[in-house]
Amino acid sequence: MKEIRVGLIGTGIIAHQHMEMYRDIPGVKVVAACDLQEEKLNAFCDKYGIEHRYLDYRRLLERDDLCSVDVCLHNNLHAPISVDVMAAGKNCYCEKPMAGSYADAAAMKRAAEHYKVKFHIQLGMLYGGEVIAAKKLIDEGYLGKIYHTRSYGYRRRGRPYVDGYGEKEFDSSQWAGHGALYDMGVYHISQLLYLLGCPPVDRVSGRVY
Ligand SMILES: NC(=O)c1ccc[n+]([C@@H]2O[C@H](COP(=O)([O-])OP(=O)(O)OC[C@H]3O[C@@H](n4cnc5c(N)ncnc54)[C@H](O)[C@@H]3O)[C@@H](O)[C@H]2O)c1
Repeated sequence: MKEIRVGLIGTGIIAHQHMEMYRDIPGVKVVAACDLQEEKLNAFCDKYGIEHRYLDYRRLLERDDLCSVDVCLHNNLHAPISVDVMAAGKNCYCEKPMAGSYADAAAMKRAAEHYKVKFHIQLGMLYGGEVIAAKKLIDEGYLGKIYHTRSYGYRRRGRPYVDGYGEKEFDSSQWAGHGALYDMGVYHISQLLYLLGCPPVDRVSGRVY
């Protein structure tokens, strides 16, 4: 089997979780990583045995051996850097939420089509056992015709930065902060849309408290 060589941009909290996952996928190797913070980058690469280190993601994208690049950056950087990844001819896997705005997300989709590369957003909740079971029940008609869905999410502790860990950019409006709807709501919205087969939606309402 041909080795799938991956580059990773952003070596923060979530990048560590990605590394744990890559470790369990046969044939995949993360060979290069990038972060603006040199000390953090080096600690990350030392921990996972990543040889090639970059402070500028554009240098990482110049490599010709990468099949895919994983974007683990703050929300508002997803669009510009994912588009650059795809323009460099690499497949792209990007963290959620897809982007900081609808226009940015649409540009990312257009880039994937234009550069003919694979593009995926991390929405791991789509692949859980409960979702697979619910999808099967719905598809087989056990729940009848579905016209209304509702989803709840709770997070009272473990909020990045607010609860004393992670970078301040996680919650800054310049780099990322779009509140709970973007941070956690995207998991719920994508789950509901997927379960319903992505129909046109008449009305959405939500509440955060
Ligand atoms: N932390 C979580 O629990 C979690 C869970 C799921 C998804 N996510 C998503 O992952 C993304 C990243 O979140 P995080 O918690 O890992 O943030 P983080 O602050 O821990 O890490 C982001 C890293 O990106 C680096 N960076 C910023 N700009 C850069 C640039 N131009 N080039 C290279 N590196 C750059 C920063 O130095 C930092 O190390 C967010 O979109 C978030 O929504 C996070």
